[in-house]
Amino acid sequence: MLNCLQERAIEVKNKKLNSIENQNNYLIYENFYFDFSKQYIDKKILALLLNFVKNRDIKRSISDLFSDKKINTTENRSALHWLLRAPSLSEVSNGLKPIHRNIIDNVTSMSSLIKIIHDGAWLGVNNQVIDCIVNIGVGGSDLGPAMVISALKEFRPENSSHISIHFVATMDGTDLLELFKTIDPAKTLFVYASKSFSTLDTQSNASTALEWMKSKFPGSAVSNILEKHFIGITSKPDKAENWGIPTKHILTFDESIGGRYSLWSTIGFSIAVAIGMENFNALLSGANSMDEHFQNAPLETNLPLIMALVNFWNVRFLNFQSQLILPYDGRLKLLPAYLQQLEMESNGKSVNHKGELLKYNTSPILWGDVGTKGQHAFYQLLHQGTHAVMCDFIVFADSEQQILTADKSVQARFKYHKKINIANCLAQAELLAFGSNSAFKKFNLESNPHKIYSGGKPSNMILIKELTPYSLGQLVSLYEHKVFTLAALWDINPFDQWGVELGKKIADTTYLGLEDDNALCQELSDGTLRLMKQINNFQ
Ligand code: F6P
Repeated sequence: MLNCLQERAIEVKNKKLNSIENQNNYLIYENFYFDFSKQYIDKKILALLLNFVKNRDIKRSISDLFSDKKINTTENRSALHWLLRAPSLSEVSNGLKPIHRNIIDNVTSMSSLIKIIHDGAWLGVNNQVIDCIVNIGVGGSDLGPAMVISALKEFRPENSSHISIHFVATMDGTDLLELFKTIDPAKTLFVYASKSFSTLDTQSNASTALEWMKSKFPGSAVSNILEKHFIGITSKPDKAENWGIPTKHILTFDESIGGRYSLWSTIGFSIAVAIGMENFNALLSGANSMDEHFQNAPLETNLPLIMALVNFWNVRFLNFQSQLILPYDGRLKLLPAYLQQLEMESNGKSVNHKGELLKYNTSPILWGDVGTKGQHAFYQLLHQGTHAVMCDFIVFADSEQQILTADKSVQARFKYHKKINIANCLAQAELLAFGSNSAFKKFNLESNPHKIYSGGKPSNMILIKELTPYSLGQLVSLYEHKVFTLAALWDINPFDQWGVELGKKIADTTYLGLEDDNALCQELSDGTLRLMKQINNFQ
């Protein structure tokens, strides 16, 4: 099978994208229209890929995911992010009922804390109403909530519109430093969000925030400050308690929820503050609808599976290593960063389940930005550079709801904005695929090599009716399952992240050397030791 695919790859590589019989490559699921007609995939290749995936027993892998099986083998855990969006206890298998019950309890606790905030009844040490939330977290405890809140601004209910929400993630303190200049400590609630409750970045930012609060309220007991101005979200509640957060203000989630899959859990606290529980639940329902589709749809019409096969084909057989994420919508400006963690932390692996070195490439490098901004920055490289790139365009057809939030006098202008934006999205996908020597020749009669577009860059177009909490839930879940399917095809574990651990440990000893010249860690290379001495000299 692999040989057949290899042969077909050699064949299509030498072809122009517009000479491939790919024009019927599209799928529809609910309000999603997934077009992959600009891929080097014809009917025969698609059939081969589907056969390949059948032989890999993908249906079994999918049912293992949606069970309590410990598919995260290196950490001996199951991967239960999907359970966070399972609608009711009755639909959950017996083995998972206790965890699901906990999920429901956690959501109930989260929802009661949020109600107090929305009601204006959460008071700080000076009895002032809390109207500012600062989420302190990093990676999955930051990127998901920040991305969703930025995407769903127009879904903020009346009772949350007065609340400002901020994110602090940088280890160098910059985020906090800036924030301290603008926020009112008397009205601020810090959300210490960390699955492990031991991530240095978050620990240090939270401790600095506490220090700042103590300095602002010297007359208040620290326990009072902690109670009125801090909540903790973690799967290690004992650590949060040790840090001083009262149990009633600690929200938990299960160990089996990976950090980068945790926005659906109580880590989504700031999301639910921003958009309200009703919209938060709609986000979960959207994700659940994609979960069901992934489990039940035939392989041929299974959106995450087909998306994964397209990627698998491009990476493994056509050697594409650069994946662009190009949302044509300012509301999704944080999506590329979010997907970077989801895809690269999950599938950036070089050994298979057995620990054997792989002989093929795995996760491509993901990058991107809002499409139209990229057009004036890095598209030059996409069109005329030397890298083989593949793109996911993401665009919403109908933005009526968003436009209605604008002042009446400029609503027509915003309609125009949306249309030119979509026109640009479609135009760029065409040009990247087919180049200037295709049907577009009439626009570009230049023979000047500096003005030639070679084309040949494949892309997917994810066209969604409109951006809502529900459709955003579907979109994120779509990518989660694409990542999962790719991991199954590559025979890797997408749920661990050992590659981020050792750097943290080395940083601990490096830190000692920065504190004290005599404690310089001699295992470090000469170049690094010299750099450290220079840093100490500069200070
Ligand atoms: O170091 C990587 C990582 O473990 C991510 O997987 C995780 O999302 C992030 O750090 C934050 O971890 P935590 O929520 O435990 O602070």
